Amino acid sequence: MADLIDTLMEEHLHILMVLCAVERARGDRPGEPPPRVDVLEAAAEFLRDHVDGAHHPKEEDGLFAAMEAAGLPPSASPVGCMLKQHVRGRELVESMSRALDGPHRHQPEHAEALRLAAGEYVRVLAPHIQMEDFVLYPLARRVLGQPALDELTRRLVEPAAVAAFAAAARRIDELTRRAP
Ligand SMILES: [Fe+2]
Ligand SMILES: [Fe+2]
Repeated sequence: MADLIDTLMEEHLHILMVLCAVERARGDRPGEPPPRVDVLEAAAEFLRDHVDGAHHPKEEDGLFAAMEAAGLPPSASPVGCMLKQHVRGRELVESMSRALDGPHRHQPEHAEALRLAAGEYVRVLAPHIQMEDFVLYPLARRVLGQPALDELTRRLVEPAAVAAFAAAARRIDELTRRAP
């Protein structure tokens, strides 16, 4: 059975799917509005509800907290850096949401703010995921051991929520294949 770390890694694949959609949707021409605001709107909702709402809490309150309890404080591992990147990610999602909200959303400066925040989000989160998959999670496996991971899995992993996470990411991927 998949444990907490397997689940987090599966969620990473779905987050990367959404980051690819964001990168295509934001466009790459400075000063021009993003070509697919509909995709960025759906992505911002996914990042807020599923990444900040479900993935990061499983790391912060589950895995990282257990690592600290096992004697590895955030300052002595990549966890401290990961926590700062979670905070920056939340700020950028907030910036995206602000740029998408309200009557001024089609004004050029709001469109450019959206494009820039979306781009920085991808540049923060893609390497963040690599660091977790290849450095932090293997370290967590060694520090915690399987019985502690199994206990965290029972407490934190809800199969229905994991399925909803994957389905939401696939919907955004499909949206990019449809005409705006
Ligand atoms: Fe993380
Ligand atoms: Fe993660």
